[in-house]
Formats: sequence, structure tokens, C-alpha cells
Amino acid sequence: MPSFTSKRAASVPDSVFLVMDRAKSRRRRQGGEVIDLSIGSSDLPPPKEVMTALAEAALDPKTYGYCLKGCTRPFLEAATRWFAERFGVSFDPDTEALTLIGTQEGLAHLLMAVADPGDVLLLPEVSYPSYWGAARVAGVEPYPVPLDPAFRPVLEAIPPEPLRRARVLLLNFPNNPTAATADRAYFERALAFAEAHDLLIIHDNPYVDFIFEGEALPLLSIEGAKARTVELFSFSKSYHLGGVRLGFALGNAEAIAALERIKAPIDFNQYAGILRMGIKALSLPLARIREDVAKFQKRRDALVKTLQDAGVPVPSPKASLYVWMPLPSGTDDVTFALRLIETTGVAVAPGQGFGPGGRGYLRIALVQPPEVLKAAAEKIVAMLD
Ligand SMILES: Cc1ncc(COP(=O)(O)O)c(C=O)c1O
Repeated sequence: MPSFTSKRAASVPDSVFLVMDRAKSRRRRQGGEVIDLSIGSSDLPPPKEVMTALAEAALDPKTYGYCLKGCTRPFLEAATRWFAERFGVSFDPDTEALTLIGTQEGLAHLLMAVADPGDVLLLPEVSYPSYWGAARVAGVEPYPVPLDPAFRPVLEAIPPEPLRRARVLLLNFPNNPTAATADRAYFERALAFAEAHDLLIIHDNPYVDFIFEGEALPLLSIEGAKARTVELFSFSKSYHLGGVRLGFALGNAEAIAALERIKAPIDFNQYAGILRMGIKALSLPLARIREDVAKFQKRRDALVKTLQDAGVPVPSPKASLYVWMPLPSGTDDVTFALRLIETTGVAVAPGQGFGPGGRGYLRIALVQPPEVLKAAAEKIVAMLD
């Protein structure tokens, strides 16, 4: 029998989210309601001006040709201007910035661009699922770094052997799924660690605007970070544009050039109309985004208060789109999540979908209004009892 599956394709891990997807479909087929808190896809509408910019671009015949590097220049100028005005660090739009078809695409290609098969990728032991698959596609070996009680990778705990072969350290703050944030001191330690062990840091930062309390700066805002960092920014969360697929990378020029080389035979950049839309989004005043983030904060409060009032020891996230809830010890997260959807219609993400360290946790996405989240929390509490 011929095989039409490469070893590479076969090595991509199955996701427990497929199991959840099937459970959601079963429930819907049976006529049951589903409150879907299992994926981080915002339910809020994109800003009106941003949708208008896309609609106008779609009616302009000039936007339909292949979009080569020169065509992305206005977008990259807007992206670098956005970062400089907000965080005070300048990047060259020609050499230190690149358009992405979403950060998920960018990250997968970036790993291929900066690491070789057999190299080690250091990543948090609880991580966004696509990281594990992207590592396999690139042929790099993921090494799960243990987390401290604040869910930040303990870099000093990495043994010498994986460290010797490590090429990249992948970080993500504010974090999906744990909601962990990093302060300046943590980032400075991570940069010193990268320097000492000759690593590139990839910082995946789609939640740059999703800060409820305190400060959570991009890694590239730290002086000198660009020597060892590529940071990825997305339009999916801040502007509720997950389906449109747009992001950008900023940082180290050599890594950006390598990414551009890898992408050249694969894609022709994003559609020029979507780039125009992105320029519009980046020009919006920060206050507009903060209005939406305040809505997510109210949602967080409704969900967390209901759980905490019922005695569930769940921390209130200071950032991100998620609540990371520990289950009572010995409770299997996949079994619990399946029973929850089958009996109540509430869909959440089981923690082990994010890696071995996620066992015994549920990730609840704040993608419904406060009253729906409160009702969902009551159902979770009833199931715990
Ligand atoms: C940590 C993280 N990275 C990347 C993505 C995907 O972003 P994009 O839509 O830009 O591909 C998500 C989406 O949930 C995410 O949580």
C-alpha cells in the first residue's frame, strides 16, 4: 500500500480539541444549546471603520494583483510607526518588519527559518497548541520548560543537554492559556539567558492590548531586545479579526530575512485590501481598543466572582482572554470537559490540550457577555459538586 502521509505530517500531534469539537457537534445535532467558551475567538464586532476600509478596498480593482514586498511597504510603515509611537522603539520597515498571514502562520514558518531539524525549541510546558505542531513541522524538538507558581518558565531549571542543542526560546505573555504576564525584570533575565546560551527569543504577543491590571510590555520595548528577539503581533484579538488572517513580525533583521526567504516559495503575502484594513486598524486611538478590553474585564469579574464565591480556588487573570481554572486534585480535565458539555452544553478547553503541564486544568475563554459567563460558571460549580 502506498502511503500519502509524510513522516512530518504524521508527527503533528492530534489535538484534544477535535474531541471537544465532536462533542459540541453531537450536542447541537441532538438539539441542545451550546455555550461555547472553548475557543478564543472574540464575539465582539470589529471596529466599524476597519470593516469599512476592507469593504472599500474590496471594491477597488487595484487591490487584486499579487502583493509583492513593495506592496506591503505602507502596511509595514504603519506597523513600525505604531510600535514606535506606543512603545518608543523604532524598526526599519524594510529589514526589521514582515507581514504575516496571522501569527500562527508566521510562527510556524519562523521556526523553519531560524532552526534546523534536530535543534531544540524551548517552550513553556503549557503552551498554545499550534506551537507543538509547528515544532514538529519544522523538525525541531520541543523541550517543555517547567513553570513557576505564576506560570512563567523557570529558565534556570533547563538541564544542560537540551540547552546545548537549543536554538530558540519561545515565550508568550500575556499567556494563552494561563494568563501569565511578565514584568521588565523577567524579560531582562530572559534576554540575559538568551545571550548566555546564544538563543533567539520568539515572543508571541497577540494579547498586547488585553491588559486588565498592571503593566505588560512587549519584549521589544526593552532596550537592546531586538538583537535577539522576533516578536509577533496579530489583528485577531485587539480588533476582533481572527477570520481575516493578518499579523506582523518585528525584530532581529537576520531572523526576519530568513523568515522572508522561507515564505517566498510558499505565499504571496496577504491580500492588499486586508493590508489596507490593517493600516486603518493601527491608526485607531488606543482608547477605542481599551473600551473593548474593559468589556472583557467585566466578563472576567462576572465569571471569576461566581466561581470564587462557590469556593473554587481560581485566580483572577490580570491580562489575556482566558481564565485558567484548576480542577480538584485527581479530576481528569478531558473527562470533566466532556461531561460538562454533554450534560450542560457549556464547552471549555481541557488543560492537557496545551501540553502535559495542563493536566487538571480547564481554560475558559471570556467570549460571551457577563450574564452568560455567570450562568456557565454556575453550571461548572454544580458539576464540581
Ligand atoms: C498565543 C496565541 N498565538 C497565536 C494565536 C493565533 O493568532 P493569529 O490569529 O494571528 O494566527 C492565538 C490565537 O488564539 C494565540 O492565543
